[in-house]
Amino acid sequence: MAADARSKTAETATHWQRFAVPYEFPVVFTEGVFDPENPALRDVLCRLEPHKRHRVVVFVDDALASHIKNIAEYAQHHKDVIELACPPIAMPGGEKIKSELHFVESAQQTLFDLHIDRHSFVIAVGGGALLDAIGLVAATTHRGVRHIRIPTTVLAQNDSGVGVKNGVNLRGVKNFVGSFAPPFAVLNDLRFIMTLPERDKVAGMAEAVKVSLIRDAAFFGWIERHMDDLATFERSAMATLIRRCAELHMRQISHGGDPFETGSARPLDYGHWSAHKLESLTRHHLRHGEAVAIGMALDARYSVLAGLLAPGEEERICALLEYLGFQLWHPALAKSSPAGKWVILEGLDEFREHLGGALTITLLAGIGSGVEVHEMDTERVRQAMLWLKERAGA
Ligand SMILES: NC(=O)c1ccc[n+]([C@@H]2O[C@H](COP(=O)([O-])OP(=O)(O)OC[C@H]3O[C@@H](n4cnc5c(N)ncnc54)[C@H](O)[C@@H]3O)[C@@H](O)[C@H]2O)c1
Ligand SMILES: [Zn+2]
Repeated sequence: MAADARSKTAETATHWQRFAVPYEFPVVFTEGVFDPENPALRDVLCRLEPHKRHRVVVFVDDALASHIKNIAEYAQHHKDVIELACPPIAMPGGEKIKSELHFVESAQQTLFDLHIDRHSFVIAVGGGALLDAIGLVAATTHRGVRHIRIPTTVLAQNDSGVGVKNGVNLRGVKNFVGSFAPPFAVLNDLRFIMTLPERDKVAGMAEAVKVSLIRDAAFFGWIERHMDDLATFERSAMATLIRRCAELHMRQISHGGDPFETGSARPLDYGHWSAHKLESLTRHHLRHGEAVAIGMALDARYSVLAGLLAPGEEERICALLEYLGFQLWHPALAKSSPAGKWVILEGLDEFREHLGGALTITLLAGIGSGVEVHEMDTERVRQAMLWLKERAGA
C-alpha cells in the first residue's frame, strides 16, 4: 500500500503546450482625423467587421478637450458604423494619469457601467502618458478590449504610440505596472503636432535621435542636415522625422526577435537607464524626452570613456541635441544620498531589476551602431557626469 503511493507521487509527466499568435495592426498617417470626410478612423474601426455598428468609448487628454465636440460630430456623421457609448471623456494628460492609480480604476468603472464587451472599442486620444494608462485599462478590462490609439505628441507618434506596451507608475518607479498588448490600430495625425507646445515638440525629437544613434547613421545625418528646419518645427521636416522614427521603432519590434521583451536586452532604451531615474528624481518636472536627451549625452560620453566610440562623436551628438533645443544638464544628476552615493546610480539597479536578468545597457560603437554591455563602471559614469556638468558650465 505504502509502496504504491510512493511510486504514484514519483511519477512525472510533462506535456508541452505550444502555440504562436501572429499580430498585425495598421499604423495610419493622416491629417484631420476627426474631419467628418476623413475615412481613416471609420476604416480601422470596421477592418474586421465592416457592417457592424461598433460601440466606442473615447478617452481624451484634457489638453485636447476642445476636440471632444469634433469627435462627437465625427461619430454622428458615421453613425451607421459608430455608436458612442457615452460622450468622449476628458482625463488628465501628462504623468499625473500614470502616477495616480485611481484614474485607471475610474476608467475601468466607466467601461463596467457601460457594459463594454471585448468586441467594443476603447479609443485613447492623447500624449504618451494618457495612451499608456488607457492602454492598460483596455488590456486589462475583460482581459483585453479592442484598443485604438490616436497619439497627439511627437513622442507618442514616433515611439510609444506605435509600440506594444502600456503601463503606469507605482511608488515613484516608472512603468512598474503594465502589460504588453498590441493595439487594434494607431492613427497618427500631424495636425496635433502643430498645436503642441514648443517644449513637447522638442522633447519628442529625443527618441528620433535615439533610434538614429543605435540603428541608422543615414537618419542621424538627415537630422543633422535638417536641424534648422527641425529646430523651428517646419512642417514637412517634422512629418519626415516622425514617420522615419516610427518606422524604425516598428521594425525593431517586428524584426528584433523579442517584441515582448522576454530577454534582457532593450536596444530601444539607449540613454534610458538614467533618464527614468531622472524623471522620478525631478518628480516629472523633466519630460521623458528631455530626460532621454540627457541620458543619451551621458551614455555617449561613457561610450567614449569605455573606448567604444571615437572621441569627438559624443560632442557631435551633444551639439545636435542642443541645437534641437535640449539642455544636457540638470542639477538632479548630481544629487547624492546621505551615504554620499550619487542617487542617479540607483537607476542602474532599477534598470537591472526591470529587465529581470543580467544588466544590459546599450552603448554606442559608432553613430548608427548600438552595442550591448553588461556592466557599467560607476567611476566612468561619474566622469561622464562631471564632463556634462562642465560642458554646461554648471
Ligand atoms: N509605452 C511605451 O512604449 C512608451 C515609450 C516611450 C515613452 N512612454 C511614456 O510616454 C510618456 C511621455 O509621453 P509624451 O512625451 O507624449 O508626454 P505626455 O503624455 O506627458 O504629454 C505632455 C503634455 O502635453 C499635453 N498634450 C498632449 N497632446 C497635446 C497636443 N496635441 N497639444 C497640446 N498639448 C498636448 C499633455 O496633456 C501633457 O500635459 C511617459 O510616461 C513615458 O514613460 C511610453
Ligand atoms: Zn523613451
